[in-house]
Amino acid sequence: MGPAFALVVFTTVFSGVTAVGTGVTFTNSAYLDEAMNVFLQWRRDESTVTMQLEVQTRGMVAVGFSPNGNMPGSDIFAGYVGDDGQPYFHDYYAEAQEHPVYDGDSSQNYYDVLATENDTHTIVCFTRRIVLCDSNDRKIYNGTNRVIWAYHADDPTSERSLIYHGATNRGSRSLHILYPRTEPALPDDVQTIELLNQNYTVPDSSSTTYLCRGFKVPDLGGKRHLIRWEPVIQSGNEGVVHHFVLYQCGPGVPDPDTHDGTEYICYSNMPGEWYQCSITLLAWAIGGTVFNLPDNAGISMGDTNDPTFLMMETHYDNPDLRNDIVDSSGLRLYLTSTLRTNEVGVLQVGVEVGQSQKIPPGSASHTTVAHCYSECLQQGMEDVSATSLNVLAAFGHAHLAGRSVSVRHVRGANERQELFKDEFYDFNYQETVPMEQATQILPGDSILMECTYDTTDRSDVTYGGLATQNEMCIAWLLYYPKMELSRCESWPMSYWYLYSLGATATVFSDTRADFIATAPDNLVNLTADEIIPHVTWTDEIRAAFQQGETQAQRFEQCVDKNNNVVHGNRTRPVPPVIEFPWVAADECSGVDAVTADTIANVLLLAVGYVIIAFV
Ligand SMILES: *[C@@H]1O[C@H](CO)[C@@H](O)[C@H](O)[C@H]1NC(C)=O
Ligand SMILES: *[C@@H]1O[C@H](CO)[C@@H](O)[C@H](O)[C@H]1NC(C)=O
Ligand SMILES: *[C@@H]1O[C@H](CO)[C@@H](O)[C@H](O)[C@H]1NC(C)=O
Ligand SMILES: *[C@@H]1O[C@H](CO)[C@@H](O)[C@H](O)[C@H]1NC(C)=O
Ligand SMILES: *[C@@H]1O[C@H](CO)[C@@H](O)[C@H](O)[C@H]1NC(C)=O
Repeated sequence: MGPAFALVVFTTVFSGVTAVGTGVTFTNSAYLDEAMNVFLQWRRDESTVTMQLEVQTRGMVAVGFSPNGNMPGSDIFAGYVGDDGQPYFHDYYAEAQEHPVYDGDSSQNYYDVLATENDTHTIVCFTRRIVLCDSNDRKIYNGTNRVIWAYHADDPTSERSLIYHGATNRGSRSLHILYPRTEPALPDDVQTIELLNQNYTVPDSSSTTYLCRGFKVPDLGGKRHLIRWEPVIQSGNEGVVHHFVLYQCGPGVPDPDTHDGTEYICYSNMPGEWYQCSITLLAWAIGGTVFNLPDNAGISMGDTNDPTFLMMETHYDNPDLRNDIVDSSGLRLYLTSTLRTNEVGVLQVGVEVGQSQKIPPGSASHTTVAHCYSECLQQGMEDVSATSLNVLAAFGHAHLAGRSVSVRHVRGANERQELFKDEFYDFNYQETVPMEQATQILPGDSILMECTYDTTDRSDVTYGGLATQNEMCIAWLLYYPKMELSRCESWPMSYWYLYSLGATATVFSDTRADFIATAPDNLVNLTADEIIPHVTWTDEIRAAFQQGETQAQRFEQCVDKNNNVVHGNRTRPVPPVIEFPWVAADECSGVDAVTADTIANVLLLAVGYVIIAFV
């Protein structure tokens, strides 16, 4: 069976849900638990978020914002509807895995509280500011947030106390709460393709399953523009379907006819050719809604050079190891034959996926750095006579050790606002994030990608690679106009690691296709990867590896989708240090975001604050 293909006449436009009795229209929703007892809806306004929590209990309910899914450091809103029908909800914070602390009458950061209960549920609606300038409170981040929840069957015995939720009635869910909303703009001639799983029985042997299913792109009747996508979640499975990633394939595309409708556990029993399907086209995650491209841009499909085969990865979460989950969820793509002015391309930036990425073990924070050099970008633009690139959306990707991911944008000595930033990266929560406004990249600009990893629980080096226990530091940028350039990557030359591991002289060996040591005697002819298994890791070696990320000469991959070189001879100098890093707005001190032009003023301001602080 191929994907269902239908021409639809559009009757409904995206509709939100209105909170009972408040007139608030919510834009996003997610079940916070797989059993679907805890449902959260929300909307984001300029500086506030309004949420409605519906929990299947007539007792205590709690929702919070946590640094990592655990209680310490969390900002918690909790309470209950009393027997008198009145709401008793308060602001709390947790310093440890214990009863949270009441955050005082003076800092009730949760307001406009409306709460009610019916025979089965407690429903509470509240508003809070995105940024709270109180050390006990936690802001809502522009990226992944860990939302924690808990409930109990009973009400607490006194107003400002809570009841321990027990081991099961609690949990954590990653959510993009501030995900920018895009307004739908659909032409009349919309076609949809549904890429759906078909009655897949989610395994009861593992709490996490990544299913990969192949789809032949149907005959669309000519060139079309993909302009919008949304999830299609089977009713009842809203709690277990976590995310979808749709991949296109590089050279060596699997035969669409034989692989259509086949499915495997991703990166486990997949056919070899499927590993070519590693270019992320789009991704959705729980809590997300519809994604619309701006009305001047579309992703080409159905044309001669367009994808003929797509691989969809579905992430199922089944912590209770249920054996009764059968799922036919997937993605719906919207296409139009009214072609838009700009053709969207996907640019991959980051480090090469492979052994060139090396992360020392036992490191609480190691940052992999990847430059996309300005010469590469500029050549890519010149080849298609583009005077700028407009970045519309970004998808940052690391694996299990990844803790934060950012894609920085550099113009000369000045850094500009990031193209992508996730300070609390969660491998199990990834989606394409639209920009509030398209960001222009000009000739001469460069991109700097950084991924920070925690390898404290590992004893061997973590290499880059496709397996989840290996790492990646990659971002896919959706931009227009489309270039031939498809990958702009770089990584430190391995001579640096050789010196870090005791070599005193090195040379590049053409036959080994790597650097080898030429001194001292015990290391002669060895590559860094041959020495690494015998290393006793110390903080000095870890620090030396970290230094290499910014101070070593680099190899570059500046290629089109067939791996033809777009620019350069692979060898790149040590990249310049950013003189004026981007300074984000500090909502609490009132300092606006700055470009380097005004950085001197900010420094003056900062000095001013210090003086004020000491008066
Ligand atoms: C109680 O509230 C829940 C959550 O809003 C709702 O799904 C359910 O239908 C309500 N029950 C009754 C009997 O109204
Ligand atoms: C899934 O199974 C149900 C019940 O057997 C059937 O009605 C339905 O058509 C199947 N769906 C798909 C997509 O195969
Ligand atoms: C939040 O992230 C989006 C998408 O990356 C971006 O467009 C927006 O400018 C960011 N907002 C702030 C305040 O950083
Ligand atoms: C290193 O390799 C070269 C070339 O293969 C060889 O001639 C030389 O004997 C090797 N040296 C050592 C110490 O193994
Ligand atoms: C590669 O190009 C750089 C300049 O971008 C130059 O300095 C270097 O010598 C070249 N290397 C080779 C092997 O041609």
